[in-house]
Amino acid sequence: MFGKKKPTPQIDKDQLELIENAQKRIKQKKRLYVHFVVFLIGAIFLIVANTVLGIGENVTFFGKEWFLYAILLWLFFFLYHLFNVFITHKFMGKAWEKQQLEKLVSKQKQRIEELKSSFVKEEKIIAKSEVYNESKNETKKSKLTIIVAAAENNAIGKGNQLIWHLSDDLKRFKNLTNEHHIIMGRKTFESFPKPLPNRTHVVITRQANYKVPDGVIVVNSLEDAIDASKNDSQPFIIGGGEIYKQALTIVDKIELTRVHESFEADTFFPSIDTSIWKETANTFHAKDDNHAFEFSFITYQKK
Ligand SMILES: NC(=O)c1ccc[n+]([C@@H]2O[C@H](COP(=O)([O-])OP(=O)(O)OC[C@H]3O[C@@H](n4cnc5c(N)ncnc54)[C@H](OP(=O)(O)O)[C@@H]3O)[C@@H](O)[C@H]2O)c1
Repeated sequence: MFGKKKPTPQIDKDQLELIENAQKRIKQKKRLYVHFVVFLIGAIFLIVANTVLGIGENVTFFGKEWFLYAILLWLFFFLYHLFNVFITHKFMGKAWEKQQLEKLVSKQKQRIEELKSSFVKEEKIIAKSEVYNESKNETKKSKLTIIVAAAENNAIGKGNQLIWHLSDDLKRFKNLTNEHHIIMGRKTFESFPKPLPNRTHVVITRQANYKVPDGVIVVNSLEDAIDASKNDSQPFIIGGGEIYKQALTIVDKIELTRVHESFEADTFFPSIDTSIWKETANTFHAKDDNHAFEFSFITYQKK
C-alpha cells in the first residue's frame, strides 16, 4: 500500500514503437555511411598499395590489375549493403504503412463508438429537460386574473347589483373576457339577466342541485372552478365579494377599474396590498356624458 508507485509512461506504445524505429533507422544509415567512407579509403589504399608501394605489381587478371577486381568486389558488397538499407530492411515500407493505417482506423472506430454513446446520453438528458419544461409550462399556462370595478372605499355592489353604469368599463370587461372562462359566485351569476355571450360561465355554489342553462358549468369550490378552466390561457374571476376575497391570494393579475368616488354598499373588494402587488398600467378616464364618475383602469401584477 505504501510501496513506491510505478512510474507511468508519458508516451503510448505506438509512439514508443515509432521512436524505436527512427533510432534503428538512424543507426542503419550511420553504418552505411561509415561503410562508404571505409570503402573509399580502402579503394585509395589498394590503388596506392599497388601503384606506389608496388604490392602485387605483376598480378593481373585478364590484363587488368588485381586491385581493380578487389575494388569492384568491395563495391558490390557496398551496393548490397545500400540495397539492404533502402529496399530490403526499410522499416516504414508498404506493410508498415498498412499496419499503421489499420491501427488508426480501429482507433477512429473506437472514438466514433464513444461519441455515439455520449450522444445517446446527451439526447436523453435533453429530451428529459424538454419534457420537464413542457410539463412546467403546462402547469403555469393559465394566468388567473381578477377583473373588478371598485370605488375608492372598495365598494363593489349593493342589493346584488352594481352601483354605477360606466359604458367604457363594460366594454373593457367584454373585450378582456371575450372567449375566456369567467368564474363567479352564485349570487353574481344571478345578478345577470342571462349568461353573457362568447364566454364560458363557471358558477360556484355549495348547493348540490343548482340548475343552470345549458353550457354553464356548476362547481362546488373555487379549486374546482380553476380546474374546470385549466385549458384557458387566462381565466377571469369576475366576482362577487365572497369569491374575490377567496381568490385574491391565488390570482396572478388584477384588472381593476377604480371609480374615483365613495359609495354606500353591502359588498366590498378586499384592499390591495402594494407590498404584494405592483401597478403595471394606469389609464385615467374623465367624466363625460356617458360616464358620471371619473375612473382609472389599473393593472396589477403579482410581484
Ligand atoms: N363591481 C364589480 O366588479 C362586481 C363584480 C361582480 C359582482 N359584484 C357585486 O357583488 C355582489 C355579489 O357578491 P357576493 O359576495 O354577495 O356573492 P358572490 O361572491 O357572487 O356569490 C356568493 C356565493 O357563492 C357561493 N360560494 C362562495 N364561496 C364558495 C365556496 N368556497 N364554495 C362553494 N360555493 C361558494 C355561495 O353560493 P351558495 O349560496 O349557492 O352556496 C355564496 O353564497 C353583487 O352586488 C354584485 O353586483 C360586483
